[in-house]
Amino acid sequence: MATAVSPLELDTAADDLRSAMVREVQRGLLPQPRSLPAWMFYDALGTRLFERITHLAEYYPTRTERGIFSGYADTIVSRARGESSKPLRIVELGAGTASKTGILLDAAAHMQGRVEYIPVDVSETALEAACASIEQSLADVEVKPVVANYVSAPIQLAPHDGPTLALYIGSSIGNFSPEEQRTILRNLKVELQSGDALLLGVDMVKDRKVMEAAYRDAEGVTEAFNLNILRRLNKELAANFDLACFRHVAFWNKDESRIEMHLEAIEPQHIRIAAARLSVRLAKGERIHTENSYKFTENSLLSLLEDSGYFTEETWTDERGWFSVTLARVV
Ligand code: TRP
Repeated sequence: MATAVSPLELDTAADDLRSAMVREVQRGLLPQPRSLPAWMFYDALGTRLFERITHLAEYYPTRTERGIFSGYADTIVSRARGESSKPLRIVELGAGTASKTGILLDAAAHMQGRVEYIPVDVSETALEAACASIEQSLADVEVKPVVANYVSAPIQLAPHDGPTLALYIGSSIGNFSPEEQRTILRNLKVELQSGDALLLGVDMVKDRKVMEAAYRDAEGVTEAFNLNILRRLNKELAANFDLACFRHVAFWNKDESRIEMHLEAIEPQHIRIAAARLSVRLAKGERIHTENSYKFTENSLLSLLEDSGYFTEETWTDERGWFSVTLARVV
């Protein structure tokens, strides 16, 4: 990775991460219903498993969004640049391995020569992969990665002489509650200037079977991804979860317009999490709620952007209307 980090800083970062995990298990596993925050999925193994999810036959969002970018990258980037003669920089929240972003960066590089790209993510492993692949394939892109949890703290962008395009794609916003979605977009807006743009990619409500299959794949990769949160607690907080005693549950919740993911205890469990000094008894059939993936309609998307202080300019979608990519402006 481009940024140099001293061993001392690494230790502090690891300590911060561990205490954040301790707080989250105390907050999420003591009260009922039990829950764990989705950011905990993304250690090195979780990041790799998620990457595999994006290639699954059942998991249509990545492929569909990539198709939209391939079809409209030039239009999207030139709309984002607007009338400005100065170079556009691109910031990406929850960049992950940035596998689709290359299409937009490439379009920007063709238009203006050099492009500064700032991927922000909680997963250091993912960012390393992002930097390596972008730097290798796109010589005109200067990558300045930031390891940060953009939900809990503002990202604090460096000043830039020219417009900024903030990317929030992959329907990552859908992994937060409607209130959190608004907070994230409003916090982002504080970092942006008038005239800057947001490109928001979201998954749309569709046939329930199609949506459920995407989170319940035949090969069991999503299940392994879900269980990885327990493996991580065993490893990092000295917990004693028996992974064989949990089952992956994913279903469409129509009232909330979201796919829910849970881990269900198939046997009664007595869990001890040594590093958090925590002991929890789970009954047979009890669930730990690990993830939501909200799906949008044209209306819910418009109100999200409007409530968060953005002006919607243009939306691109695939021919089935399964996924949508919207350019919105900071006024
Ligand atoms: N935001 C994407 C989605 O909700 C990707 C994602 C996040 C995901 N967590 C997941 C996909 C868990 C499958 C399982 O689809």
